[in-house]
Amino acid sequence: MEISERANKLTPSLTLAVDAKAKALKAEGVDVIGFGAGEPDFDTPEHIKAAAMGFLEAGFTKYTPSSGIPELRAAIAEKLKRDNGLDYEPSQIIVNCGAKHSCFNALLAVLNPGDEVLIPAPYWVSYPEMVKLAGGEPVIVPTTADTGYKLTPELFREYTSPLTKLVILNTPGNPTGVMYTENELAALAEVALDDDIYILSDEVYEKLVYDGAKHSSIASFSKDVYELTLTVNGFSKPYAMTGWRLGYVAAPKNVARAIDSLQSHSTSNPTSFAQKGALAAYKGPQDCVDEMVAEYAGRRARVLELLDGIRQIKYVRPRGAFYVLLDISATGLKSVEFSEKLLEEQKVAVVPGIAFGDDNTVRISYATSLNNIEAGLARIKKFVD
Ligand SMILES: Cc1ncc(COP(=O)(O)O)c(C=O)c1O
Repeated sequence: MEISERANKLTPSLTLAVDAKAKALKAEGVDVIGFGAGEPDFDTPEHIKAAAMGFLEAGFTKYTPSSGIPELRAAIAEKLKRDNGLDYEPSQIIVNCGAKHSCFNALLAVLNPGDEVLIPAPYWVSYPEMVKLAGGEPVIVPTTADTGYKLTPELFREYTSPLTKLVILNTPGNPTGVMYTENELAALAEVALDDDIYILSDEVYEKLVYDGAKHSSIASFSKDVYELTLTVNGFSKPYAMTGWRLGYVAAPKNVARAIDSLQSHSTSNPTSFAQKGALAAYKGPQDCVDEMVAEYAGRRARVLELLDGIRQIKYVRPRGAFYVLLDISATGLKSVEFSEKLLEEQKVAVVPGIAFGDDNTVRISYATSLNNIEAGLARIKKFVD
């Protein structure tokens, strides 16, 4: 049987491959330290689990509206208003099976074959593949440590062509942890407005910010920017709910309707009782988020302190998420070779930057214990020494 051209064009996920290798070694009893995970190592807070379990037991196990239960869409609208200064009606919010699905559906809803999508690199591994699946052409815009791995208005203009339909912005970012300031976003919004370029604003790490950094939502800047923007967010990262598969996209009315339609013919609704858990996450106490962020902040501080003691490794100080992107140029190794040798010789798993469009870097995640951080970074230091 032949594979479709669409599926053939995809690049398999390197992040999952590294993870699989590390897990296989662990299963053999090897003492591997994993810095690869892109997910919180905490359990979902009890009150969220209890809400979902209560509704599961009570038989809330049937189809829901494909766009999500009305009370959850209303709670999301309230949250977007309160935290982000965004005015979306519940009907403009579509709940999806994880923010990955939200991004995918958003792209499917607005891209035509051949439309170009600007993706600043280093980027989250799935963006280019999703764009291809949706029939678009990913246009990678390389950024460097000199601009803090951020897209600048100059670069944005340089890479814009008559075919440019959309730009993807991810703040706080994976894999860099960089955050755009309000001014930086406003300058990018100007460029988007000049050329009527849509913006996919992926804000899933919004709550995981440090050093007093403040997250801004680009759609809140003006009515015109709002009309060009698809705002994506979700529950996986702030509430340690990766396995629940719940995210959402908030969009102008016609786009929201299109996404609902797409979803109604593909996945239908996200899991019924999981949506009740998400409702509890947004309606319930938020100290669980603060506690996790405080824990990440402590780990981040230690990671950066230890990295500062490794002469051959440079990095741009991350302000959000739970990643640090290590510049390994001084080692003379490219990212895959570095990662494979590190795993082989020191039993430490990191993600090669080539997966994010930057072969001179590797990503480490500090969504792991302080003990692992201490031991793992000592091994990395030994490796590069
Ligand atoms: C930048 C970014 N966007 C979206 C997602 C998807 O999150 P979810 O688990 O909600 O699908 C991830 C997950 O790693 C991510 O890093």
